[in-house]
Amino acid sequence: MNDLAGKHIVLGLTGGIACYKAAELCRALVKEGATVQVVMTEAAQQFITPVTMQALSGRIVYGSQWDAREPNNMPHINLSREADAILLAPCSADFMARLVQGRADELLSLLCLARPIERVPLLVAPAMNREMWAHPATQRNMAQLAADGATLLGVGSGDQACGETGDGRMLDPQELLADLVAFFQPKLLARRRVVVTAGPTFEALDPIRGITNHSSGKMGFAIARAAREAGAEVTLVAGPVSLATPRGVRRVDVRSAREMLAATQAEVTAADVFVATAAVADWRPVAEAGQKIKKDGSGDAPVVAFTENPDILLAVAQSERARSGTLFCVGFAAESHDLLTHAKAKRERKGIPLLVGNIGPLTFGQDDNQLLLVDAQGVQELPRASKLVLARWLVADIAARLPAAATP
Ligand code: C5P
Repeated sequence: MNDLAGKHIVLGLTGGIACYKAAELCRALVKEGATVQVVMTEAAQQFITPVTMQALSGRIVYGSQWDAREPNNMPHINLSREADAILLAPCSADFMARLVQGRADELLSLLCLARPIERVPLLVAPAMNREMWAHPATQRNMAQLAADGATLLGVGSGDQACGETGDGRMLDPQELLADLVAFFQPKLLARRRVVVTAGPTFEALDPIRGITNHSSGKMGFAIARAAREAGAEVTLVAGPVSLATPRGVRRVDVRSAREMLAATQAEVTAADVFVATAAVADWRPVAEAGQKIKKDGSGDAPVVAFTENPDILLAVAQSERARSGTLFCVGFAAESHDLLTHAKAKRERKGIPLLVGNIGPLTFGQDDNQLLLVDAQGVQELPRASKLVLARWLVADIAARLPAAATP
């Protein structure tokens, strides 16, 4: 992916042991297509050298407001005006206090103050000891920075370099990368609530065995991520898959179709959008054996009776909120042939405004896919692309179909 292609990021490092993670972050930003200009405070240079950051960013690192390499001798102006965003990672407690006060006695704080505030966003990834993090002064400074228009990216929790355990670790490079990518996505679903089902279900035969399918959950997880990036509050009702939960998404794990139905019905009561990507098992064994079904030596296979599972999408689509248009329902169809015919029929049978068709064997487990969007007017094709790219297109398409959001 090249989610940061064309973006120029000023990556500011301040004094903290988390500087070692900034090297990895710089590499991840470059890999995602960004150009990265590193600026380091004197304290940051105690933890990691400019040589490392220069090698990883491919650009000379700046550290002084008196840097004569700039023809006009104004690195604070030139560097801040080039940037699409300034990311401070790690941002120390001291540096936050300096930002709050509008200090300008070294290059990094100077360029943060000098940045065109409407055009160049400032993102802050704090990193410090848990006591420093919890201190009222730090919390006060955080609130003030947010009020001054900075985006606070939060902190991680766990073991700290000082030997203590708690909140205040810098987020991992991959988390920061995901947050930065999300930051640049248009907020088409701001103030909307989205529920997504994803993955297969598992219908138990006995305590050891069950019936499931090849759905990887990747498409649903990508849609949850894309909806979150677009500013929605997202709940992902996930069948048994081993995928990581997208940043900022609330996940409810379920196993069987009936569990998925119960969780989904509870979640959609306040939602604006429901996207059913889950490959729900159509049937389940009538009864789950209490103990493992054993071979009895007779050579006779056990006879398993099946019963139909509830149709989650149909149940939600028939609810009052869906029928009145308050809840916008999107279904998926995985077919092996005659995709368009089946997709059209399925949309009508489920009574939903939008159905997304794909070819099962071409999507299960893959990182890319191609989609067919079927609505009452006709069909639109989304060409083969990564599931995340398709998810972003789909999210934009859904956003355009929603009734205007109430102003906050
Ligand atoms: O009926 P069919 O399985 O072909 O329809 C697929 C669509 O319906 C998908 O959106 C899927 O998530 C949803 N579905 C469901 N509950 C079921 C079966 C399918 O929500 N029991």
